[in-house]
Amino acid sequence: MKKLTILTGAGISAESGIKTFRDGDGLWENHSITDVASPEGWRRDRALVLEFYNQRRRQLHEVEPNDAHCLLAELEKYFEVRIITQNIDDLHERAGSTNILHLHGELFKSCSSNNKNLIYEHKHDINIGDKAEDGSQLRPFIVWFGEDVPLMKEASQMAKEADIFLVIGTSLQVYPAAGLLHDIKDNCLLIVINPNETNVGYGQRAVVMKETATQGMKLLFDKLVNLA
Ligand code: APR
Repeated sequence: MKKLTILTGAGISAESGIKTFRDGDGLWENHSITDVASPEGWRRDRALVLEFYNQRRRQLHEVEPNDAHCLLAELEKYFEVRIITQNIDDLHERAGSTNILHLHGELFKSCSSNNKNLIYEHKHDINIGDKAEDGSQLRPFIVWFGEDVPLMKEASQMAKEADIFLVIGTSLQVYPAAGLLHDIKDNCLLIVINPNETNVGYGQRAVVMKETATQGMKLLFDKLVNLA
């Protein structure tokens, strides 16, 4: 089977009702990204950060995967599919995809604030005073700005091995994730689905589909199957 690697970002979950980060006024649900998604923000105001992610987690219980997530899951019949997602939601899992790497962490997990290897399933609120087994405050299992991206090496390998690399719903403004496009082979087919301009930077090499994720995937699905 050919290897199809897919890089997804906030745009793939937009049609499920989860807001993207950079489309509006630069604020994420009315907060500056630094306040709620950085180690400095955490040091400054843990309660604010926990409440912010508690709201995101509660919202995640209310939304469903959309057709784009579902069609990606369907592609496993035809390709060896690997999904690298920057999203912290679990919509790829719920749609049925089985090989998913969460580059920036997972909303339904928590970890010790002193040891990111102490990880727990966590589907509900995290509160001040909730402790990991090492006695430290629990925090969301999220890769914040300024933190290492531990799964990057694995993601890079997936990009290198791809016969087809499909990019859906990401502004490609955040590194190292955006750098994965530089890892693909010369003969790898690169396809980008995004209704807006992105930082794709690969010029004519990329097949760019200016569509939303669901519409783009509906248009692309049969064409991809023909390439399997
Ligand atoms: N379908 C497809 N793409 C869409 C849709 C849609 N319906 N709606 C918006 N988009 C596109 C936007 O045009 C934009 O390019 O989704 C992209 C969203 O970009 P960002 O908000 O920057 O999200 P993302 O690229 O995932 O951000 C990367 O930054 O804040 C951090 O860690 C966070 O993982 C996140 C990372």
